[in-house]
Amino acid sequence: MDRILAATPDADDLQTELSLRPKLLREYIGQQKVKANLEISLTAARKRNEPLDHVLLFGPPGLGKTTLANIISNEMNASLRSTSGPALEKPGDLVAIVTNLEAGDVLFIDEIHRLPPIVEEVLYSAMEDFHVDVVIGQGPAARTLKVELPRFTLVGATTRAGLLTAPLRARFGIVHRLDFYDVEALTIIVRRSSEILGIPTERDASSEIARRARGTPRIANRLLRRVRDYAEVRHEGRVNADIAREALEMLEVDEYGLDEIDRKLLTTIIERFGGGPVGVNAIASSIGEDRGTIEDLYEPYLTQIGFLQRTPRGRVASREAYVHLGYPAAHARTQKDLF
Ligand SMILES: Nc1ncnc2c1ncn2[C@@H]1O[C@H](COP(=O)(O)OP(=O)(O)OP(=O)(O)O)[C@@H](O)[C@H]1O
Ligand SMILES: [Mg+2]
Repeated sequence: MDRILAATPDADDLQTELSLRPKLLREYIGQQKVKANLEISLTAARKRNEPLDHVLLFGPPGLGKTTLANIISNEMNASLRSTSGPALEKPGDLVAIVTNLEAGDVLFIDEIHRLPPIVEEVLYSAMEDFHVDVVIGQGPAARTLKVELPRFTLVGATTRAGLLTAPLRARFGIVHRLDFYDVEALTIIVRRSSEILGIPTERDASSEIARRARGTPRIANRLLRRVRDYAEVRHEGRVNADIAREALEMLEVDEYGLDEIDRKLLTTIIERFGGGPVGVNAIASSIGEDRGTIEDLYEPYLTQIGFLQRTPRGRVASREAYVHLGYPAAHARTQKDLF
């Protein structure tokens, strides 16, 4: 899917993200609450000379979970081992990794909600008592060997905290939710990235890009690169607000950072379902996207900017959505219609 506003990474993102990723907590922009809390946890752990408690990070894609996992290992002066839920198919896959950790290492498991249950089970004892039970041999001769592990820090990331089982969730001492970034923070991120990438970007241009980045650093960085392309081809590389606006209009990114699929989702609710409430499955089959994609990638931002409401009876397009898409505001559902 080649969607300019997708929060999931494309090949170009993965290339530049390495150079753009902040390495230390103080370079991490925005998310003040998470930063302040982590700062305390990290300082305390360092003082006690102990590994950090296990950390669970959740929030929509592209907000900086992987970045934070890297920062945690850097701040603890520890090595980072990265894997992901779907990559750990069998208990042995996890055992191989944890038995090779050294004291203090950080193990990062991305998409931790997708761990197979039999692997998750192994993780429980590894996290809680720092041991794993390994079965040796087969049949009647099989026996279980308890293997002690070094004390390590697990950092788990997920876009859907709701999909985590209660026992797994309970084993994280530190849980942080990342929120969409405000325009000020994104503006600083765009300025920082411009500097690193050597793009001459005027201040107003940075905020123009930031405004349309759906609260997501990954998208802000991607828009910056596309604006740079445009500026290089049409304007000798200088990026000012007008050039940024032109470029973004050409990319069909509107001033709220909505693209075709967002608009299709909202117009479908408005035209086919009278503005809602409508279940997410009905929306999914109407626009031909799967339910998980809608819930992970589209809804969080549309809800955040107030265009979409989630009610017990289904999704509802708000008055603001009607106005933005050019429908008569008077046709929008009112609170009275809904409850
Ligand atoms: N707080 C921040 N300050 C500056 N840049 C950031 C920040 N958070 C994220 N970024 C930038 O956004 C990019 C995407 O962040 P990251 O890969 O950490 O997202 P993620 O939450 O792990 O996404 P996913 O859910 O897709 O794995 C990073 O490479 C980095 O350049
Ligand atoms: Mg990530």
